[in-house]
Amino acid sequence: MNMVVFLLLVLVSAGTCDQVSGTEKVTGLYGETIAIPCNRGAPPPHDLMFIKWKYEKDDGSAGDLLIKQAHTDQHTVQATDDYAKRVNIDDEYNLLISRTSLKDQKTFTCMVVSGTNLMEYPVLVVINKKPSSVTLMDKSDVLQKDKLTTVGTCVVADANPAATITWTKNRKSLVVDGKVVVITPSMKLDPATGLSTTSSTLQYAATKEDVDAVFSCVSTHVLTNQTTDLGPFPIHYPSENVGLEIISKGSIIEGDNVTLKCHGDGNPPPSSFFFYLKGQKTLVENSDNYTLTGISREAAGDYKCSLANNEKMEASQSLNVSYLDLSLSLSGKIVKTVGDSLSVRVDKSASGEPKVSWTKNGKGVNQPEFSKLTYADSGVYLCEASLPGIVQHQSFELVIEGKPVIKSLTEHGVADAKHKVLSCEAEGVPKPRFQWSVNHTDEVISYNDGRATNKITVYPMENLNVSCTVSNKLGEDVMTINVSPVFKEESEEKESQNDLHDQSMLIVGVVVGLLIAAALVGLLYWLYMKNTRQGSFKTRNEAGTSEEIKKLEENNYPV
Ligand SMILES: *[C@@H]1O[C@H](CO)[C@@H](O)[C@H](O)[C@H]1NC(C)=O
Ligand SMILES: *[C@@H]1O[C@H](CO)[C@@H](O)[C@H](O)[C@H]1NC(C)=O
Ligand SMILES: *[C@@H]1O[C@H](CO)[C@@H](O)[C@H](O)[C@H]1NC(C)=O
Ligand SMILES: *[C@@H]1O[C@H](CO)[C@@H](O)[C@H](O)[C@H]1NC(C)=O
Ligand SMILES: *[C@@H]1O[C@H](CO)[C@@H](O)[C@H](O)[C@H]1NC(C)=O
Ligand SMILES: *[C@@H]1O[C@H](CO)[C@@H](O)[C@H](O)[C@H]1NC(C)=O
Repeated sequence: MNMVVFLLLVLVSAGTCDQVSGTEKVTGLYGETIAIPCNRGAPPPHDLMFIKWKYEKDDGSAGDLLIKQAHTDQHTVQATDDYAKRVNIDDEYNLLISRTSLKDQKTFTCMVVSGTNLMEYPVLVVINKKPSSVTLMDKSDVLQKDKLTTVGTCVVADANPAATITWTKNRKSLVVDGKVVVITPSMKLDPATGLSTTSSTLQYAATKEDVDAVFSCVSTHVLTNQTTDLGPFPIHYPSENVGLEIISKGSIIEGDNVTLKCHGDGNPPPSSFFFYLKGQKTLVENSDNYTLTGISREAAGDYKCSLANNEKMEASQSLNVSYLDLSLSLSGKIVKTVGDSLSVRVDKSASGEPKVSWTKNGKGVNQPEFSKLTYADSGVYLCEASLPGIVQHQSFELVIEGKPVIKSLTEHGVADAKHKVLSCEAEGVPKPRFQWSVNHTDEVISYNDGRATNKITVYPMENLNVSCTVSNKLGEDVMTINVSPVFKEESEEKESQNDLHDQSMLIVGVVVGLLIAAALVGLLYWLYMKNTRQGSFKTRNEAGTSEEIKKLEENNYPV
């Protein structure tokens, strides 16, 4: 080997770092055709006779491949093995091997024979194959907090050289520390093809902050790099706190439905709980709540809940139940007599101090307490007691009775003085009955709040003592008044008062009177004619006559 060629080889070797020293290295792709240059493709010597390609067998002996004579297009395949059908040579004396596999990774030597020299140029062949696939296996659905969990296994199949696998979280390399990050690599060589399958399993102990984290399996190979993402994963962790909530609007009132709701802060949220109700343990599954229907005052107290799978995780709440009972010592209709005393007792039993108020017929009053009842104290008394959210009512009706008492008996003058109006006023319950000692008309009765007034119209013809008597079941009262007669326009008064018989008597009287008057007029005329000559008789006679008429008239109207 001459010096120049040797130096050239050294220079070329320096260009590719991983070259076997002194030997050229050519890389081909698996399954394709590789062209192996002879003497780096340098032109052959001018006195070339032929070029021969051979290879080194596994046992170190040489295997013939083919020979090409100078200045011809022909070549001769010498190989008898697998290479016989796969080898060829081109015009630049490059050895062509088709359908390469890893078995072709050996040293091929180009022998250049000229008239003056014989040179050998060995070439090391390397066959690369990119991975046929990158797959994820055993992929996790969730990560456990603070607990090594298999995130997944990355498998890079059938590569040469073997691919390397690394893992990243959010594009940053994960460094194995044996606690939070554990990576278990493995590699398999296919004995038939010699191809490598690399796999790597990542185990990771998550924190709550990893909930958005994306993990990636990064496969690195001379021919291709590939990144496969996993996640983000839900992070599961047990509850660290448990809470018990009592669901109610405002304060809880006896009879309410009260829902107890338990929750834990774990992920996923716990779904089964124990509720401890007055010493009784109840399991609730697939629900976080328990409803106490129609709660009673006895149900007040401490309530507790815990996780079904960890009873040490518990919470408790005290539950207060508001209640209010109200009763009065009086109820319904209470009948009392004027002057009696009355008091009412209020009995209340409540969870707090209730507000108590009273109304009488709808208007606010103090709590009824009477030493001497009057009619005005009658009415419907209502007691209202309240606590936040609760109102209770109790009532009674008070009726005050009393024997009637006449307050006044009066005579009212009337303008035309043809009649008189008498008014009798009395107090009494129940409603008193009126009785008069005199015939009367136009009776008017009013009764209000135990006060009764009775008005009558009378036509007294003489001085009368008129009495008014009032009575009810409790007794009676009488009062008398002296009434003077009606003097003027007696006749007219009679006229309006008397019956039809009296009226016809009056008409007869008037007719008789008129007849007598006409007879008198006739008599007077006759006397006048007779006395024309006797002078002043006329005047005295006229006056006498009118008095006479009046007397006659009175006689015609018996009282
Ligand atoms: C693969 O990645 C490495 C480093 O990450 C890089 O140097 C190389 O060029 C990449 N190869 C391909 C084929 O992308
Ligand atoms: C309480 O619950 C019962 C049945 O569960 C229902 O009939 C009743 O109306 C509820 N009462 C109230 C005050 O909501
Ligand atoms: C109680 O739990 C049931 C079942 O999970 C649910 O449907 C209901 O809404 C819950 N009630 C309350 C008040 O949270
Ligand atoms: C229940 O009542 C007690 C005393 O009556 C009180 O101290 C406590 O705060 C109440 N609890 C609730 C939840 O209202
Ligand atoms: C009232 O009138 C009736 C007849 O209308 C009579 O019989 C009676 O005597 C009268 N009583 C008084 C008190 O005047
Ligand atoms: C009315 O009563 C008084 C006293 O009681 C008596 O003096 C008088 O005579 C009575 N008058 C009539 C008209 O009865």
